[in-house]
Amino acid sequence: MTFPAFDGGTPARAVVDLDAISDNVRALRERAPSSDLMAVVKADGYGHGMLPAARAALAGGATWLGAATAAEALGLRAGLAGADVRVLVWLLTPGAPFADLVRADVDVTVAAPWALDEVAAGARAAGRTARVHVKVDTGLSRGGVAAGDLPDVARRAAALEASGELRVVGVFSHLACADEPGHPSIARQAAAFTAALEVTAAAGLRPEVRHLANSAATLTLPELHLDLVRPGISVYGLAPGPLLGAPGDHGLRPAMTFQSRLANVKQVAAGEGVSYGHLYTTSQDTTVGLVPVGYADGVPRHASGGSAGPGGPVAVGAGSAGSAGRVLRVAGRVCMDQLVLDLGPGAGERAGDVVTLFGSSDGVAHGAAIPNAQDWADAAGTISYEIVTRLGARVPRVYVSEGKVQQ
Ligand SMILES: Cc1ncc(COP(=O)(O)O)c(C=O)c1O
Repeated sequence: MTFPAFDGGTPARAVVDLDAISDNVRALRERAPSSDLMAVVKADGYGHGMLPAARAALAGGATWLGAATAAEALGLRAGLAGADVRVLVWLLTPGAPFADLVRADVDVTVAAPWALDEVAAGARAAGRTARVHVKVDTGLSRGGVAAGDLPDVARRAAALEASGELRVVGVFSHLACADEPGHPSIARQAAAFTAALEVTAAAGLRPEVRHLANSAATLTLPELHLDLVRPGISVYGLAPGPLLGAPGDHGLRPAMTFQSRLANVKQVAAGEGVSYGHLYTTSQDTTVGLVPVGYADGVPRHASGGSAGPGGPVAVGAGSAGSAGRVLRVAGRVCMDQLVLDLGPGAGERAGDVVTLFGSSDGVAHGAAIPNAQDWADAAGTISYEIVTRLGARVPRVYVSEGKVQQ
């Protein structure tokens, strides 16, 4: 992708390639050709921007959108007025705006016994039948109706169907270890889900969609695709975890490129400590470059570099004048607003040169010159999900499609 020029003075930006999101959804649909696809756009589209990500996912063939919170789901409906798409919300707390959700034509999740009464009350207030998905806990032990509570929830849901308050259109669950191929919990959860479907069927519920597959299952477990797959991270072009290879192995490409520009380039003598705590000491007379992004922008402080280990990777010069650049590691502590690179003696970089923290390539671990979010996850001891999702609000997102910046 060709990157647009930096606006004068902008210290950092995240360029989001909307075509990558559409193409990733197309690639995922090819993986699950018999299922509908719900693009999960919670958490501001995993940091990419909820509405632009949602529109790009719809362009790629998603017919459902997944949200965690009521505010996200209502934001989708408000921002995509008139779009022919189903929206599901699954993380609700007592007192959630059920009536507003039903009025806005959002499918709501019953993930605990209390939610049935509230969704029924919301439907009565809205004067409409609520579309409900029952989320069952099949072994993640997080959200979802516990197996022991399911017969009663299913029986009460069937009664509320009969009285017209709701219709159970979906039954779903979420996998704990789908990103670990062969993990024994996968087969156990699949069996528990089949058992849960028998319980809901016995109560007379006839859901349109049964769904279980996150990105990892969409990519690697076709037997779990069922009626609808719910990929999140792969929509944004990232692999669900190191055990599942690189994005390119799955026909995916990262949508987000996080760039900054050197704010200062200067000489530092050998033996000097660099950044807070002097974790890093220069081994020779050298040139250091200041990158004006830090943990307030989402750069993990755990990816500081020094005696305890190498810092996060940064490509210097990549993206400017078509150059691939070279990859350096953060020298010393990542600060709130800035970090330092040891550019080496006689470095030719200047203030204003572009640096890329991560972007659309398979990453340094895979022989490419631009690191990816997984490389930063490795450096920080976390997962790529956290790297893209935590990108700070002060980093402007620049949307690009067909080589043009979208306004
Ligand atoms: C219920 C549910 N479905 C699907 C997803 C998407 O998961 P992934 O991003 O691993 O594809 C999530 C994300 O955590 C989720 O909570």
